[in-house]
This record gives sequence, structure tokens and C-alpha cells, in this order.
Amino acid sequence: MKKVAIFASGTGSNFEKIADDERLKDKISIELLVCDRKDAAVIRKAHDRNIKVFIFSAKDFESKEAYESVIFEKVKDLEYIFLAGYMRIISPYFLDRYKKTILNLHPSLLPKFKGKDAIEQAFNAGEKEIGISIHYVNEELDGGKVIAQRSFKVSDEDTIETVTEKVHKLEHKLYPEVILKLVEEAL
Ligand code: GRF
Repeated sequence: MKKVAIFASGTGSNFEKIADDERLKDKISIELLVCDRKDAAVIRKAHDRNIKVFIFSAKDFESKEAYESVIFEKVKDLEYIFLAGYMRIISPYFLDRYKKTILNLHPSLLPKFKGKDAIEQAFNAGEKEIGISIHYVNEELDGGKVIAQRSFKVSDEDTIETVTEKVHKLEHKLYPEVILKLVEEAL
């Protein structure tokens, strides 16, 4: 059983898919949810599953290093970190200390559309194909090596809402699959 942490800031639909995946049940143990927003829906999802939560507010700390050092102490013995809608950049300070694997899910076909609002960016750019990426985290924003991508063709009927829904569907399927491969050391 690999001990992992998930970092998330929002709804937590990906957190939920990972936590509830039957194939992962005897492979990973989610020891901690790290969340930077006290009103995020993901917190309830962790409580419902008896998963410990560390909630912090960046503004209560003097610097990024200050809160990252607190987080580091909590996760240093865990084997993996999975970012699932965590809206903060992991700094070199943290990456220099936590030498194990961190994965991120990004809603675009990287290297295209890095950063915020990636689905809107792609849709507004008139992309014919839209998708998602799962990648290793390094010091560059959405810039680590890509592990897996999935995409779909955008049709004339698609709107930002339908495209967003399709993106989430792909995410919910792919992230648990990649995690499974990772923990089985098949990546
Ligand atoms: C996902 O679209 C993910 O790609 C992005 O943030 C969103 C998180 O959604 N980084 P949820 O909180 O897992 O529902």
C-alpha cells in the first residue's frame, strides 16, 4: 500500500474519483488532503471518507516558504503527491525537499494552454481538438514531462459548457488509470 496525499482547492470531483476507484483501494492509502480554501467542497468529500484534511490560508503565513514548510512536514514520509485542481504553484523550495513523485492534472493538451482557465483558453482559440494532460511536476508551471493525454474533437454544436463537461469526463477516467500504473510501477 502506497501512502499518498492529494492537494486540491475546489470541487474535488477528481479527488472523489481517485478515492472511490475500486482498483486503487488496496494500492493507495490517501493519508491527507491538503486544501488552501476553507470553503472548498473537496473538504466535505474527504471528511465523508474519513480522510484527514489540512486546511490552510496562504494569507495567514508570511511567505510561500512558510506554509510550504508546514505542508512538507506533513507529507514528507508519503510516497506520492497528486495535485487535483490545486490552484497554487509548488515552489522550488518544496520541490528541493520533497524528492518523490508529484503528479498534476491539467485541462489542456500541454504544452498548449498552460496556466489558468485552460479550457476557456482552448475553446476561445477555436481549437478543433481539446484535451487533458497528466504530467510530472517540476519547477516550471505545467511544464513537467507529460505522462498521458486524452482528447476529443470539438464539434460545431459544442459550447464552453459541453466542452468543459467532456474535459471532466476524460479527467475522471484518466487520472485514476495513470495513478494505478504509477503505483504498479508500470510507467
Ligand atoms: C480540473 O479540471 C483540473 O484539470 C484542474 O482543476 C479542475 C479540478 O476539478 N486543474 P475538481 O476540483 O477535481 O472537480
